[in-house]
Amino acid sequence: MNNFMNFLAISGSLRKTSYNTAALNALKRLAPENIEIIIFGLLDEIPLFNPDRELEIIPAVVELRKLLSTADGLIIASPEYAHGISGVLKNALDWLVSGPEFVNKPIMLINTSPRAYIAMDALREVVTTMSGIIIESACVSVPLLGSNMNCNEIIAHHEMADLLRCGLHEFTKEINSAQGD
Ligand SMILES: Cc1cc2nc3c(=O)[nH]c(=O)nc-3n(C[C@H](O)[C@H](O)[C@H](O)COP(=O)(O)O)c2cc1C
Repeated sequence: MNNFMNFLAISGSLRKTSYNTAALNALKRLAPENIEIIIFGLLDEIPLFNPDRELEIIPAVVELRKLLSTADGLIIASPEYAHGISGVLKNALDWLVSGPEFVNKPIMLINTSPRAYIAMDALREVVTTMSGIIIESACVSVPLLGSNMNCNEIIAHHEMADLLRCGLHEFTKEINSAQGD
């Protein structure tokens, strides 16, 4: 059994009171001690993707690649905008398409708005195309849209907290068993 794991988490929303970011913050605090979740905080510092700039040293992109390369898995929560994933998330993912960091990376998806299945399907297509491995049993739908809940309230809400906890448990279990532990 692998005792320590670290995951990179990306919220596709830049909103201060984002449900997706709140869900990731709640997940981080609900995680057992042996699991570290680093929430990527530089999404809005990533420039618009341009293949001509792929070899440049751009601090936010360097940090994203570094965190992903050392992570045991990637957790993504994204809003749906006009039936697509958010532009800022897609932009960040585009910077990772040509590198090795994403390949075979276990992925957990969190959907905070169950009605937003079109973006979720699009996100599945994107990360699978990038050779990420979606861990289906870890993907959770947490119905936060319209709840006005913040991170503390999600943690205090048994049903929401349990959904997140169970997803994370499945994620670590599947990664451990894939590693033959
Ligand atoms: C410009 C815009 C477009 C949206 N389009 C959709 C949509 O197509 N489908 C949907 O279910 N929700 C849509 N929404 C609602 C957002 O997905 C929802 O507010 C979500 O909670 C935003 O995530 P956040 O709380 O993490 O910022 C849209 C919101 C905005 C601002």
